[in-house]
Amino acid sequence: MAKLPGSAGVPVLGDKSLEFYRDPVSFCRQRIEKHRGRVFQCRVLNRPTAFVCSVQGMRELLCEKSNVFLKDPTDLMTNMYGDTVVTTNGEEACLLRLSLTGLFTGSCLKSSHDYITSVCERCLKDLSLSGRPQCVYSAFKRLGTELVLGLFLNVRAEEQPELFQEIMQLCTQHWHGLISAPVNVKVPLWSSGFSTALEARDRLMDIIKDKLENETQGFVGSLGSLPLPDSSSASQHLLLFISALIPKALASLLTSFTLALSGDEQTRRRAMEDPEYFRAVLLEVQRLWPPFIGGRRIADQDSTLAGFHVPKDYGVIYISHSVHRDPEVFQQPDSFLPERWSGRNAGQEHFLCSFGNGPRSCIGPKLNDVFLKEACMYLLKNYDWCLDPPSQDLEYKWLPVSRPADPPSISFTRLDHARCDGSDTG
Ligand code: HEM
Repeated sequence: MAKLPGSAGVPVLGDKSLEFYRDPVSFCRQRIEKHRGRVFQCRVLNRPTAFVCSVQGMRELLCEKSNVFLKDPTDLMTNMYGDTVVTTNGEEACLLRLSLTGLFTGSCLKSSHDYITSVCERCLKDLSLSGRPQCVYSAFKRLGTELVLGLFLNVRAEEQPELFQEIMQLCTQHWHGLISAPVNVKVPLWSSGFSTALEARDRLMDIIKDKLENETQGFVGSLGSLPLPDSSSASQHLLLFISALIPKALASLLTSFTLALSGDEQTRRRAMEDPEYFRAVLLEVQRLWPPFIGGRRIADQDSTLAGFHVPKDYGVIYISHSVHRDPEVFQQPDSFLPERWSGRNAGQEHFLCSFGNGPRSCIGPKLNDVFLKEACMYLLKNYDWCLDPPSQDLEYKWLPVSRPADPPSISFTRLDHARCDGSDTG
């Protein structure tokens, strides 16, 4: 059996984690070129790790061999969020997914629709009011936060501004701990980001438990009555759902959408008028700029990926950015071409992995879909927009969530609705 290209390196000294975290996209690009293949090995997190950058490899890892390549229960996510479905395996994961999925589909999702519409309108209606360019990423993050806190915790910014503000700040502190070194150090006048994060988590848990005990309505009410494995499960999951992770991912996609269509009136108009083309634009945005760089698994037994031997206990990381630019499947992989989704790539949405893939894919894509469509259509129907100033450095950073490293600024101009409805005969 062929050995994985590359070297697993010696423990500690051979570790490439820093290089990977600094610029994961260049890290993979260089190795894909060097090994002339999209599956290779390296040492990261001080563990020999296979990197998967091809569509076929991703499908094999996440779909066909999902019972061999498992979630890592010692992942940093467990440190910050406690035991949740994200780091569980086997039957427990299946049961949790089954219980939780109902909250993000069917009638539960339907009942969220009016709230999603109202949040989009409230947060997006003033983008042109000041007459000055807007830092779109921050505006969209606020929108995402209003969405998750309102939907999952019944805390609405316009009804309880102080509580909303407090939770938003706590979520930010908690998040900064997730991405800082897990060193729980606290000395007078100084505390590490991680220990501040743990304090924020404790306070958030108090708020969440109070909500679970006292609210009967909405998502938090339904979650409280689900058959979950233990008494802390509902609160741990709520902590995960209201964390900064989801607003950041939503803001990432909305920012990429806004940038891809900035200054391009023709594409915007076509997307507004043609639902199929609109869908293709959104697919192309997530293909080129997936919010999360990928996901990680551990080999539970000796196995293979793309014909290479993967020993038991190896880590495996799929890189969504590279998978989505696999030239075997996506011709002109670096170009923004929505038309591909009605041509050569029609019906191939399952070759994307922005929301994972296979039995452990994201449980929120339907909710995301409703939200993204609502927010993007609001922008298309109400604004013209362009980069302001026209020349900006839009180089992306990919961790922890993808977005331009320098926050882009965009000027919005309200559309004249008579013109946009086509009723202007002028
Ligand atoms: C733009 C927004 C989102 C993006 C880009 C996203 C992306 C992802 C990805 C890539 C995975 C798979 C990770 C892996 O393979 O290891 C995942 C899993 C998951 N997502 Fe999302 N997600 C989003 C929103 C949401 C929302 C709104 C929820 C629910 C409130 C959610 C809940 C979950 C859960 C529970 C899992 C773990 C599933 C499992 O391990 O079985 N996500 N998400």
